[in-house]
Amino acid sequence: MDHSENTTSNPRIANGARTIGDIVEARLSRRGFLAGMAATTGLMATGCATSDTSIPLSEIPESPQAAAFNFEEITRGMDETHHVPSGYTTDQVIRWGDPLFDDSPEFDPMNQSEAAQLRQFGYNNDYLGFVALPTRDDGVQRGLLCVNHEYVSSLLMQPGIAATYPASMTKEACLTEMAAHGGSVVEVELTDDGWKPVVGSSYNRRITAHTTPMKMTGPAAGHDRVKTTEDPSGLLVAGTMNNCAGGTTPWGTWLMAEENINGNFLGTLEEGHPEAENHKRFGVAGGWYQWGRHFSRYDISKEPNEPNRFGWVVEVDPMDPTSTPKKRTALGRFKHEGAESVIAPNGHVVVYMGDDQRFDYLYKFVSKNKFDPDNREANKDLLEDGTLYVARFDEDGWVEWMPLVYGEGELTPENGFNSQADVLIGARLAGDLLGATPMDRPEDVEPHSEPGTVWVMLTNNSRRTEDELNPANPRANNKFGHIIQITEPDRDFTATQSRWEILVRCGDPSVAEVGATWNPLTSDDGWFGSPDNCAVDPSGRLWVATDGNEATGASDGIWAMETEGERRGTSKAFFRAPIGAEVCGPRFTEDGESLFVSVQHPGDGDGATFESPTTRWPDFNEGTPPRPTVIAIRKIGGGPIGV
Ligand code: FEO
Ligand code: CA
Ligand code: CA
Ligand code: CA
Repeated sequence: MDHSENTTSNPRIANGARTIGDIVEARLSRRGFLAGMAATTGLMATGCATSDTSIPLSEIPESPQAAAFNFEEITRGMDETHHVPSGYTTDQVIRWGDPLFDDSPEFDPMNQSEAAQLRQFGYNNDYLGFVALPTRDDGVQRGLLCVNHEYVSSLLMQPGIAATYPASMTKEACLTEMAAHGGSVVEVELTDDGWKPVVGSSYNRRITAHTTPMKMTGPAAGHDRVKTTEDPSGLLVAGTMNNCAGGTTPWGTWLMAEENINGNFLGTLEEGHPEAENHKRFGVAGGWYQWGRHFSRYDISKEPNEPNRFGWVVEVDPMDPTSTPKKRTALGRFKHEGAESVIAPNGHVVVYMGDDQRFDYLYKFVSKNKFDPDNREANKDLLEDGTLYVARFDEDGWVEWMPLVYGEGELTPENGFNSQADVLIGARLAGDLLGATPMDRPEDVEPHSEPGTVWVMLTNNSRRTEDELNPANPRANNKFGHIIQITEPDRDFTATQSRWEILVRCGDPSVAEVGATWNPLTSDDGWFGSPDNCAVDPSGRLWVATDGNEATGASDGIWAMETEGERRGTSKAFFRAPIGAEVCGPRFTEDGESLFVSVQHPGDGDGATFESPTTRWPDFNEGTPPRPTVIAIRKIGGGPIGV
């Protein structure tokens, strides 16, 4: 989802920003960078960072990264359908409204209901997890797709809504929206006709914004600030919403990241209310939906603590459709874009997370306990306890990960923090106090275990001014975003000091004022704007999906991104979405032969409605609205993608 309407209340912005250091201007070569890193890592114990290279370059190992991407680049453009390179094909895997269960009603767009939607695939698919299942006896490949349904486009989704909106949002229409939020687990199999859902699979499940019981865990569970009339225990929440990107853990659970939950609440707090500062910092109540007209839990004047029960990372075990999802409060409360994880060499699990708002922060969580490859049940509690860190990007090329721990530093009662629950519920406020670096909307963050690399998508921030620049966000009016690469020393993802550099500044390289920094090998079709989601393929190569590339005059899509060697910073267009859509969740199967892609809000645009969308993709039937859909891209004849 694009958040161009979002405003920030981050107080650091008003006061001062740092100057741009030379470090961001220096495009270090990979070998030179590694050499510098190796030298400085050894010196960090004394707190002395230097760019001196004391290790001979010949001793620096070559990266295991693969060579250039091998496919025929597609052209820039924007039309009513999607495009893949010559030699590739797409499967329509599952659309909004498709049946999941044997008793699911057929999609009937003119007669939508809560009851039907609860049994059908939800709206606006975003994150895609894929948990492989054993290949069937007949050799058919299969797995569980774990799909977030981030939000609904009210005017596009239901008929007859636009003309009298918001009065048209009856209680039933709101319930249909709530049922379309959340997530789906759906078994999929690779048939002769491509990837298809297994309707009626015992794994299939719908999770929604209002019907799925969830357990709060970690330091904020049961705290007074998460208690409501419906739940005086503060331990049980009905539902999850605004699940944007997410993650799949090494133990096969699915992380659903709750993002723009502020928009689902209406109302105002009475003056001087103790939650006033907290809600203001989060943009609550945003009033993007009408649910609060019919349900008091979405009206903060009636239930001021309800927003504190959202904005978390939710962990779901897709192997057990009866399991209770868990809100992991130890990972902090903010506008979670995603939550991808990695096991550090010391056995701790590290989860990287962006807070997608202009001028907000990058975080990582380090588990207290260690991953045990032989004990999945124990691993399922790893996210219950650990340390949350927020990032400060320094001019010298180092990231300082600062712990958000009650009682440490500024996180004390004098500053309004009386417990670790307070720190986690108000993670943004805690980050403000510690001097975290205000970023240009951190979206997906993807760690790659082998070289110890972490890629951070900064989607855009057109509100940053010249006097608000900092080393990691060096462009004013950053309309097209950039990508930062973090390198964890010796692959120690638990490190509190890491190296960083900018991989590329996005946008049109032919327009000097844009200030893009693509490798000159990038073609006229190859550059893009507004990176959002990303994926690392089985060869360790980076693929970037966009949300907002339409601002450059071309559809959103997926680009293959070189991160190593001479071609570092070269981008190549692989997939183009239909008009109005953003592209989410790129997810490769482990063999690299299938790429699942979320096409979200096709047919959207200024003035677009159910009756008048910008495309009717993928059905192209008059009377059928555009349908958010998961597709799979494969090479005709088989084989790894882009190889
Ligand atoms: Fe839901 Fe940050 O995109
Ligand atoms: Ca976005
Ligand atoms: Ca996103
Ligand atoms: Ca991702």
